[in-house]
Amino acid sequence: MNLGEIEKKVLEKIKPRREEYELLMKAYRKIESTIYKILEKHGVKAEVTLQGSVAHDTWLSGERDLDVFVLFPKEWSIEELRSRGFSILLEAAEEIGNYSIRYAEHPYVRVILDNVQADLVPAFKLDSPKEVRTAVDRTPFHTKYVNEHLDEELRDHVRLFKRFLKGLGIYGAEVKVKGFSGYLSELLIIKYGGFHDVISRAAEWKAPVFIDMIGDPGIFRVLRKKYPESVMYVPDPVDPARNVAAAVSLYSLATLVIASKCYRVNPCIEYYYPSTSDLEIDFSFIDNRCIVLVTLESSEFSKLPPDVLWGELHRVTDRAVKLAERFGFNVMDWSNWTDEERIAVIGLEVDECSKEYPKLYQGPPYYSSKRVLDFISKHVFKGSIGPWIRRDGLLLALGSRKYVSIRDLLIDRTWEYLVAPHFRGLTPRVYILGEDPFDVLKSMDRDWVVGFVFKRRDWINCCIR
Ligand code: CTP
Ligand code: MG
Repeated sequence: MNLGEIEKKVLEKIKPRREEYELLMKAYRKIESTIYKILEKHGVKAEVTLQGSVAHDTWLSGERDLDVFVLFPKEWSIEELRSRGFSILLEAAEEIGNYSIRYAEHPYVRVILDNVQADLVPAFKLDSPKEVRTAVDRTPFHTKYVNEHLDEELRDHVRLFKRFLKGLGIYGAEVKVKGFSGYLSELLIIKYGGFHDVISRAAEWKAPVFIDMIGDPGIFRVLRKKYPESVMYVPDPVDPARNVAAAVSLYSLATLVIASKCYRVNPCIEYYYPSTSDLEIDFSFIDNRCIVLVTLESSEFSKLPPDVLWGELHRVTDRAVKLAERFGFNVMDWSNWTDEERIAVIGLEVDECSKEYPKLYQGPPYYSSKRVLDFISKHVFKGSIGPWIRRDGLLLALGSRKYVSIRDLLIDRTWEYLVAPHFRGLTPRVYILGEDPFDVLKSMDRDWVVGFVFKRRDWINCCIR
């Protein structure tokens, strides 16, 4: 369990200082007492609890987030929890500081107080995880489990692993990231007993990955059936029929696996802290390439929960890739980004921005009588080159393309890819890097653009033997 020099250095940066603990606890005590006051005013008996990484003591220095769960009587209905419980938290939030209403599976309140951000979440006070009715009801049991299984040393290993995942851009279960949640990180450290052990195991993973948290290999079948799309299966020790790794995408899994293989060969700081600061968009990288940015603007974006917006953006991106491929463009890479306020961007890299060469149409096999005649007539009338029978026996024609330019395709056929509710009907602007003015880049996240153009992550440079 010995840590190397780099890891000790990282740990020094991410282990919270005493003043930080005090700042968070001070904010928590204020929040706690305000909520209790409002509860009393309404004659409601509930318990105010601290959950999440602060309660687990696995948070990272610099973070100022509290997860405050208020546990209401389990005799209440879910509707009662969402109306009565929620309005009590809202009333408390008004007194505490600036607040906003958020939606996950059910509504909660986010308040800011002395630079600390706290999520106030209404949940049920349960005796056993078997009684779980909403997703958030499991959280107090997670806290109990984690605190029973992590000691002082392992908490540091969780911190390291979280920082590693953050550096790789795969920390968090939200739709934007589809990566490894804090709780999943904790479970992996608990299961394998340390940071190096997790990295060594992860280096050998191949989907579907199953981690037997509860000593019951049979649960894998149950989870596979329930989560057919997942690439990773980790039964929740407090509720084994739930897959803690349900959100992990193939991208996140592959990134962790490859980074782990590399890290074992040559650890370096860049895994934890990619140096993005002064990377300029270097024009020489754009030469001979076709990088297309489709920007979409809507004032509605800011009103959507981020998970909904990112979910729609992923879907739209996926459809744009398929559209480009269907019209003969070779899509080599794609990505997306949104400020979660008003702009969303789809990035596509294709082999050529404009396909001057005619399209090769492949006819039916020579022995299918009717279709052979149809193909020949159609292409003769269209004025195609051919049709001809190639030396390998295939019936072919070279005909015109509907879209020579990727720009025209993406501007013209919006209905084929802007298929999500809040994207339908929007007018895209299509920018081609190197061709169009760069000022559009100002409204986008530089790291995202640079990452999409440059492609090679910093840590890849450490991955050499
Ligand atoms: N939780 C969960 N599944 C998720 C997200 C959250 O079960 N996909 C529960 C976990 O019990 C977690 C708690 O909600 O401990 C708080 O969630 P969150 O703040 O997202 O994670 P933390 O563990 O607090 O980690 P972080 O340091 O990133 O806040
Ligand atoms: Mg948290």
